[in-house]
Amino acid sequence: MRAVLLALTDELKRLKAAGVKTVSVSDESMATLRRLVAARNTGNRISETGERKPEAGKNEKLVSGPVLAESPPVYSTLRQPVSGSANLPPPPEVVLPPGDKSVRWQALRELVLNHPVCRAHVRPGKQVVFGVGSLDAKVMFVGEAPGAEEEQQGEPFVGPAGQLLTRMIKAMGLERGEVYIGNIMNWRPELPPRADGTQAGNREPTPEEMAFCLPFITAQIEVVAPALLVALGATAARGLLGAHSFKTLGEVRGRWHDYRGRPLRVTYHPSYLLRKEMDGRVAANRAKRTAWEDFLAVMERAGLSISEKQRNYFL
Ligand code: URA
Repeated sequence: MRAVLLALTDELKRLKAAGVKTVSVSDESMATLRRLVAARNTGNRISETGERKPEAGKNEKLVSGPVLAESPPVYSTLRQPVSGSANLPPPPEVVLPPGDKSVRWQALRELVLNHPVCRAHVRPGKQVVFGVGSLDAKVMFVGEAPGAEEEQQGEPFVGPAGQLLTRMIKAMGLERGEVYIGNIMNWRPELPPRADGTQAGNREPTPEEMAFCLPFITAQIEVVAPALLVALGATAARGLLGAHSFKTLGEVRGRWHDYRGRPLRVTYHPSYLLRKEMDGRVAANRAKRTAWEDFLAVMERAGLSISEKQRNYFL
């Protein structure tokens, strides 16, 4: 229950950091919170309905992350009157059926792919994009948002940046299918269309868009339960660590963070590494080496063997 209150505090801090000024809580949710606090004071453990907590595994509800697994539907009770997010409702509550990983993951996938808000943001013929990979992955990569190739194929990281990511995963000695790859956002952030209706270019997701999709990636993290998370680029890192948690990527890469109890490493987005190639081989290799050092740290922490050759890539 302490975890519930901590998660609620975390979420309120995150919303504040994202610029949210007011949060309204329904009377019903307020009553639930009061019951939880009262239960903490009396040492009782109660469920979100006010009953005693069910046995582990029964009637399990997953809301937004490990600490909310048996807690009140916090997201469903938060309202955020934020300018610029007028078209987005509050972040959705994610409720998964009981069952094994694959049942829960499949239910989550269906929920996201068919979510009316996600669907409303993809152009005709394009797709909402959900995570892919092994449900037993030790390492989960979290990117920013789908681009043109991804919304076309309905899979994260399949364009040029994705191909580089796949090569880096192979350089770790893993297959793409052995890790899990998801995004902070599940649709391609929209830009005004060309005359023919297609979209040119990509843009960063807004904090409101990221906040809306956050329950989907945190639920994937909860279901897959990887040992380690890797945020690819500043946007993904901001999505997980908070919109205003840092100014430059340099402040957060090169060390371990904690995302709801899981080690999180932040590294460069593969698109940045591709862009660096324009600056010439030396600059590109330097950036790739820096990113590779993050990958080496991930390999070490995941207990993967590292050869001398792997240690020296990009040197
Ligand atoms: N960039 C991302 O961050 N995610 C993708 O899925 C593709 C490109």
